Amino acid sequence: MNAPIPRDIPLPLPAGEGLLEFLLIVSFIVHIVFVHLMLGGSIFSLVCQIKGLKMPVFENVAYFIMRTITVNKSLAVVMGVAPLLLINTLYAPQFYASSALIGDAWMSVIPLVIAAFLIAYAHKFWWNHFVNISELHIGIALMETLLFLLIPLIFMTNVNLMLFPERWPDVKGFFSAMLLPNVIQRYLHFVTASVLFGALFLVWLTGRPNFAENMKHDALGIAEVRRFFYVFAFGAVIIQVLTGLIVLVSLPSNGMSWKIVLLLLLGGAPALPATWWMWRDLQEIDNRFANFNQVVMLFAGSIIIMGVARHEYRANALADHKAAIAQKTINYQAAALQARNDAEFTKNMRAADSEPPGSADFKQYCAACHHPELPTVGPALQEIKALYAGNPEGIVSWTKAPGKKRPDSMRMPGFPQLSQQQLQNIANYMLEAR
Ligand code: HEC
Repeated sequence: MNAPIPRDIPLPLPAGEGLLEFLLIVSFIVHIVFVHLMLGGSIFSLVCQIKGLKMPVFENVAYFIMRTITVNKSLAVVMGVAPLLLINTLYAPQFYASSALIGDAWMSVIPLVIAAFLIAYAHKFWWNHFVNISELHIGIALMETLLFLLIPLIFMTNVNLMLFPERWPDVKGFFSAMLLPNVIQRYLHFVTASVLFGALFLVWLTGRPNFAENMKHDALGIAEVRRFFYVFAFGAVIIQVLTGLIVLVSLPSNGMSWKIVLLLLLGGAPALPATWWMWRDLQEIDNRFANFNQVVMLFAGSIIIMGVARHEYRANALADHKAAIAQKTINYQAAALQARNDAEFTKNMRAADSEPPGSADFKQYCAACHHPELPTVGPALQEIKALYAGNPEGIVSWTKAPGKKRPDSMRMPGFPQLSQQQLQNIANYMLEAR
């Protein structure tokens, strides 16, 4: 692997790795469901607005959908905080690297999200002002949908780029990262999922009493609208399966394992019975959608398995890189420790060198009884200095054969173990010491 291996900051994780991974998977699934409802809702609001130009009833439906978008959007953003923080914690070096490599685009997410928020609210609150200026009205819906399409593309480009450290050296900004081999397929797979989940959500929503009220209990109109969404959901599943297969075969092999292939197939499998049930439902003339609940359950199961598979793939793809970073970090820590020890050692050596000769011996043999200023067992250094100023030989001869001078003092012991040189050094040191 010729990928850049950054050094990690050796800090412990705030909780067990398994727990954090579990929370990442769960919080991401919750987040992505609301993202799908938000993006799907906004696509359908736009579609219904355009359809409403000819069939006014759809104008009404568009507004009904619009009111859910701001809610789903807020939930998508709030629920997105947890997985974002968790991915930052679990994959800090990789996510940092990929975010930095597409830095401009990554930072632009903030103004883009703010713009999308404001446009979505303007669309909702000023609906009645703009409804008769259809170009502007549709223009706003289109802008909102495009923003909601662009933001996930930036996210996906980033989380995809982090999976391929060996590509980092070649990446020059957002567009080159977007053209990595599997971003577009993944993105199409994601957008069709939004259409699918958005359509299913709207089939459910338009089956509720307040929609009937909104439609003034026009049973035929309601059935027509619900069928419209159900047909979209049906078409989306088929495209979803196709794009899913393309994603599967184009996934770079470094993250692949049989377990992941199995998980992906298992996650895709519910699409078969779901398509069958949807097809059957669409054959019924009364539009009751008898199998709708089962269909929703199947897709709920599918998105959970896909969420797990997605995490597995990432963990697999980055296992080697993570290990290499851990190794590099350990090596670095060892080298840093070695360097600190070496520095400490040289410092001690220097300190030893820079001490005046005699100082160490004085501390070892004499300091116990000779304090710099106070008379203790023996006279203070001050007193000795005054007595022997300019006469270190005097100290040497005294120490070789200490006499008995002060009546109140004990007799000073002799130091036969010290050489003449040592004694001279001690004497000089005593006279010079401050
Ligand atoms: C166990 C305590 C003790 C130690 C250790 C000791 N001394 Fe003394 N030193 C004394 C005492 C007590 C006197 C005072 C003796 C007296 O006045 O009779 C003294 C006095 C001296 C004097 C003064 C002599 C004078 O003319 O008044 C010098 C100089 C001296 N010591 C040098 C040294 C040196 C050098 C060392 C270390 C190699 C040393 N001493 C270690 C106890 C000690």
